[in-house]
Order: sequence, then structure tokens, then C-alpha cells
Amino acid sequence: MSRSLRLGILASGGGTNLQTIIDRCQDGSLDASIALVLTNNPDAGALNRAREADIPTICINHREYATREDFDQAVVGALQAAGVELVVLAGFMRIITQTFLEAFPQRVINIHPALLPAFPGLHVQQQALDYGARFSGCTVHFVDSGVDTGPIIIQAVVPVLPDDTADTLAARILEQEHRIYPRAIQLIAEKRVHIDGRQVLIDPPSPPTEESLINPGLEA
Ligand code: GRF
Repeated sequence: MSRSLRLGILASGGGTNLQTIIDRCQDGSLDASIALVLTNNPDAGALNRAREADIPTICINHREYATREDFDQAVVGALQAAGVELVVLAGFMRIITQTFLEAFPQRVINIHPALLPAFPGLHVQQQALDYGARFSGCTVHFVDSGVDTGPIIIQAVVPVLPDDTADTLAARILEQEHRIYPRAIQLIAEKRVHIDGRQVLIDPPSPPTEESLINPGLEA
């Protein structure tokens, strides 16, 4: 009998991506189970969402650790104790060390609210607006030792509209995050994802949903 992929979800904030993954596990469209929700922030909304769904939680407060390395060792210990097979960063506001990556080689993924490699880092919706980009979006990628630099699994494109603020753009991007993060996890659960250098190969391939987007649109 096939066993569902055991996820460890790391979140520091409200946890809407966590909620989507909970919902998709519950409705059976995601062949995974959440073994642990871990946060560094005792006030994270994600903790309540996990408790509501009877998912084990742990808070490991980075302020109680002298070094990043010590903190990561505690996090890795908790994930390993829970039998986690795939680490899913969902708004986790800490940088992961090499120790962490070595404990879960090619088994840590992240979602970023921009179309990487454009706009890595923080406040990226504002960065996209300030730049005058016509499109932004979101990216699910494997985590490597850089910041938002790992191989890309899936992306969704979102137009930037004339009246957008960072908040309205973020909300439009978040809707797409909720579509692509469960999809990326499902592809991994199905063992269809292979890393070849910078390329992530999906086997069998899955064609893009749309051929192209143009903004501002062409007029007839
Ligand atoms: C998302 O925009 C995600 O891309 C970024 O942090 C935000 C987390 O949102 N890494 P939520 O906590 O899942 O609602």
C-alpha cells in the first residue's frame, strides 16, 4: 500500500499557505500528511490553524538560541523526531543553514511571492511595483544555500495592474500561491520531480496552463 508523504511545515506568520495544504490533505487531492507544524514565532497564526486541524505543533523560538546553527539543530531534531520526509517552508522568516540542508538533502522547498530570479529577498511586491514590472507572480523552489536561489519547480504569473498597491498585488499573488504550492508537493509525492543542475524535470512533463500573457493586453 502506498504511504502518504510526511510533511514538516515551517511558518512564522498567518499561515494561509499552511491552511491550503491542510485543506488539500483533508480533501484527498494531496497525497501527503502533515507530521509537524513548526514555528519560530510563538504568536504565529499558523499555530492555531494547525491546532484546529489536530496537527502536532512545536514552537522553537530563535531568540532562545545563541547561534543560527544551534537553532537549526533544534529544528532539524524536531523534524527528524516527527519522521518528516519533506520540509515545506511556508512564510518561514529564518534563513536555513548548511546543517539543515545536509539533514534534508533536496528535501526542503520554499514559496516566494515573486517570479524568481526577479526580486529575491523581502518586500518583493513593492519591489515589483517600484520597478514598473508588468508581471510578477510566485515561485516554488528547492532551497539551496543562497537566498531564493534554488532550482525552480513551478511558477505562476500575475499581472501588475495600474492601481495596484503592494497589498493588492500581494493578495492576487497569494491566490496563486495557494494553487501552486499544493501542486508542487503533489508532484514530489508522486516522485515526478528530479533535479538536474539548475533544471527541475517533471516526469512525465506537464504542459503550461496558458501559452502566454500580455500586459497591457493587445487590442483587437
Ligand atoms: C507568502 O506570501 C509566501 O510567499 C511568503 O510569505 C507569505 C506567507 O503567507 N514566503 P502565509 O503565512 O502562508 O499566509
